[in-house]
Amino acid sequence: MKIIALSCSPSRKRNSDTMLDYFIAGMKEVPNIEVEKVYLEDIPINTYNFKNSTGPQKDEELFKKLTDKIKNETAGLVIATPTYNFSVPAHLKNFIDRIRFFALNFNDKNKLGQPNGMLGGLKTYFLVSGGTPNWAETILFFSFPSFWLRGVFLYFNAKVIGAYYSGDIETYNNKKILHKCYKKGIKYAKNIIKRKDQGLLENIFWRSPQEKQM
Ligand SMILES: Cc1cc2nc3c(=O)[nH]c(=O)nc-3n(C[C@H](O)[C@H](O)[C@H](O)COP(=O)(O)O)c2cc1C
Repeated sequence: MKIIALSCSPSRKRNSDTMLDYFIAGMKEVPNIEVEKVYLEDIPINTYNFKNSTGPQKDEELFKKLTDKIKNETAGLVIATPTYNFSVPAHLKNFIDRIRFFALNFNDKNKLGQPNGMLGGLKTYFLVSGGTPNWAETILFFSFPSFWLRGVFLYFNAKVIGAYYSGDIETYNNKKILHKCYKKGIKYAKNIIKRKDQGLLENIFWRSPQEKQM
């Protein structure tokens, strides 16, 4: 089972990136899990416009490779990001804007006229760092990326397995938080292997489009 771990902070080896490293170490404890870590800033992605709305363009080879992988081979997507101005860094926001070409089905709309999500086979998890203490984030959860990311990926019809926020600005040094990330990585990977959220019959007969390609 393949999992893509997207590190979305421009600051490598700092908070969210280190949270992701521990989460990955946890995932790797689980047999049959293959993790690929990707630094989103290594993937040039033009900003969304009507012309590139149908998918990656000729000058976006790395973006095409990444979206092909997520579309065809990936069972899990882990996104690690800092909080920037109550949201996510611009590059991550742009990535999410651009993936709508395979995340939404514009030929199949719901009662509200909204396109239906197409990421039914993808299980997501969000690791978020921020400068706001955890207690304040708990009260103001709706102004933080984990809430927003959860909403977007549910709109895309993906499964949201969980999210973890750290408000320690020295998370990269905080062994307790990093150990929690490691534990959460194990739990998430086990969930992917066991297909926990599915019923018995679905486990036997149903395979996600991503799995069918494997
Ligand atoms: C441009 C910018 C905007 C920020 N906005 C917020 C914010 O709205 N809320 C918050 O809690 N922290 C905010 N922060 C603090 C970062 O989220 C925090 O330092 C985080 O731990 C950085 O994570 P990283 O080391 O993974 O990049 C901001 C930091 C920067 C540089």
